[in-house]
Amino acid sequence: MNACLRAVVRTGIHYGLEVYGIYRGYEGMIEGDIERLDDHFVSGIIQRGGTVLKTARSEAFRTPEGRKQAFNALQAKGIEGLVVIGGDGSFRGAMALNKEFDIPVIGCPGTIDNDLFGTDYTIGYDTAVNTVVDAVDHIRDTADSHNRLFFIEVMGRDAGFIALRSGIASGAESVLIPETTTYIDKLITILDQGWKRNKRSAMILVAEGDESGGAYEVAQQVKEKFPQWETKVTVLGHIQRGGRPSAFDRVVASRMGNEAVKALLNGKTNQMVGLQHGAMVLVPFEKATKHHHEINKHLLELVDVLS
Ligand code: F6P
Repeated sequence: MNACLRAVVRTGIHYGLEVYGIYRGYEGMIEGDIERLDDHFVSGIIQRGGTVLKTARSEAFRTPEGRKQAFNALQAKGIEGLVVIGGDGSFRGAMALNKEFDIPVIGCPGTIDNDLFGTDYTIGYDTAVNTVVDAVDHIRDTADSHNRLFFIEVMGRDAGFIALRSGIASGAESVLIPETTTYIDKLITILDQGWKRNKRSAMILVAEGDESGGAYEVAQQVKEKFPQWETKVTVLGHIQRGGRPSAFDRVVASRMGNEAVKALLNGKTNQMVGLQHGAMVLVPFEKATKHHHEINKHLLELVDVLS
């Protein structure tokens, strides 16, 4: 997100705009926690995780009164257009603001979950996947040395993109995600076949939003079938949401921030900047928030074939 912010600020200045930063998302907007940003404000932030502007969930912004207050604060600073970095909740907020006060809004998709329709990648996703893969590689050393069965829970409250991509990249035996039905019997068969083929350790990636209930629950259901294995569970948690962004994320975020400012200058509004087949595109908020980003079925098959 910092790389995106840096691109927004520097692109805006490049085109002669005054750029303001809003702290703590819509909550800060309501409170008028808004500051003029110069070139230096965004120096040395491209390599930092999180967001230097901070973020917050805002209940007040869900109300018309809250949004009115927010718009007043924007007006007080003479702000004429908005770039919102976030997920579907942030975009819905932007749409409401645009509808009620006609202020142009452009979104950049920022979520590690990669679950927004209309973009192949969201900002933070690639970094989260790399963090998971690194963690799984570390855990595999123990799994291999001790002949253990590991269930590793990764983020993805409603989506399995992190689990699926990390699962392929780390050679997981199976991946359990909310987009597909989880059959414990099938999982047991896969593990059993692996054991018969002399696999002495196994890694299962479980998205936290999987309907099975998470890694602990799955482990509980599977472990008695494999008394020969010691079963372990690791929940990776918030290490996935921070840390140095990958080069890929930095480039995507820089391109998106740049594109968002150009879109505003071209009179666009209510659109999300997306990356499709390597190119920057604009996707209406309506589509980005309402449609579902489909899981790639070929990747699901790949896990089974390569397991
Ligand atoms: O943005 C969604 C998400 O990444 C989920 O996958 C995860 O459950 C959640 O964020 C964690 O959010 P919080 O830090 O608020 O618990």
